[in-house]
Amino acid sequence: MAELLDLDAEVMEAYLSGVGAWIDELAADQPPRRILDLGSGTGTGTFTLLRRFERADAIALDVSASMLRHLRNRARVLGLADRVRTVQADLDDAAWPAVDAVDLVWASSSLHHMADPDRVLTEVFATLRPGGLLVVAEMESFPRFLPDDLGLGRPGLEARCHAALNGARDTALPHLGSDWGSRLSRAGFTIEAERPFAINLTPPLPASAGRYAEATLRRIRLHLDGRMSADDLATLDALIDSDGTGSVLRRDDLTVRTARTVWAARRP
Ligand SMILES: C[S@@+](CC[C@H](N)C(=O)[O-])C[C@H]1O[C@@H](n2cnc3c(N)ncnc32)[C@H](O)[C@@H]1O
Repeated sequence: MAELLDLDAEVMEAYLSGVGAWIDELAADQPPRRILDLGSGTGTGTFTLLRRFERADAIALDVSASMLRHLRNRARVLGLADRVRTVQADLDDAAWPAVDAVDLVWASSSLHHMADPDRVLTEVFATLRPGGLLVVAEMESFPRFLPDDLGLGRPGLEARCHAALNGARDTALPHLGSDWGSRLSRAGFTIEAERPFAINLTPPLPASAGRYAEATLRRIRLHLDGRMSADDLATLDALIDSDGTGSVLRRDDLTVRTARTVWAARRP
């Protein structure tokens, strides 16, 4: 998962810098000095925001000790270690971790993992200073990479993978694709904007795009046993076999297609 998140950050660099610039505009009156990255993973949001807001410090909060270890190593490499504090906490626990008031909360692809996102949003509201911003970024589904006709197996493999995955995720991630705008309003936030970001990268792709496609398809593959035909699974397995001749790493017809929605909400 950590590798997938780092590859996502590399390939989605233009999207991330676009969101960063947008937050800069929204916070122009009072640039943030203290930032909380909720479900920080390997620190994609933490580092994007620390680079943009040079006078800010960040708290990176995640349930996973290994993600936070990875994040601290990256912070050292990037020369940002003295501006990041990590907090390991499970936001599904009843007690909210002790965090001082912050100016900006960033929650990217993390809220849908929570057992009770509404309770987490209420706690975020209390943690933000009045006037502070919460920025929520969510994706509808995993990115897509493959042409419809791969020249192998039956056309439409990736569409069938996603359809099968949707069946699995209704139980595994019931809040994915939720109506976050309504949930933010219910928690007391004023929605400043809801902005869709369509990502459609075509060749020449960033160097890491093949590895990103492979890591994403491997992640999807974990949920597909018993949900797709043996022929489709064999085609997919060939695509994610790094050493095989059919590997996505050796294809020159990949694209990166996905959509993310970002909500900017303010504590009145
Ligand atoms: C899909 S990753 C997103 C990481 C990062 N925000 C990004 O955009 O790259 C979701 C993150 O949420 C964390 N997470 C999931 N459930 C959590 C919980 N209950 N409390 C705290 N963090 C949690 C996971 O450990 C993971 O790092």
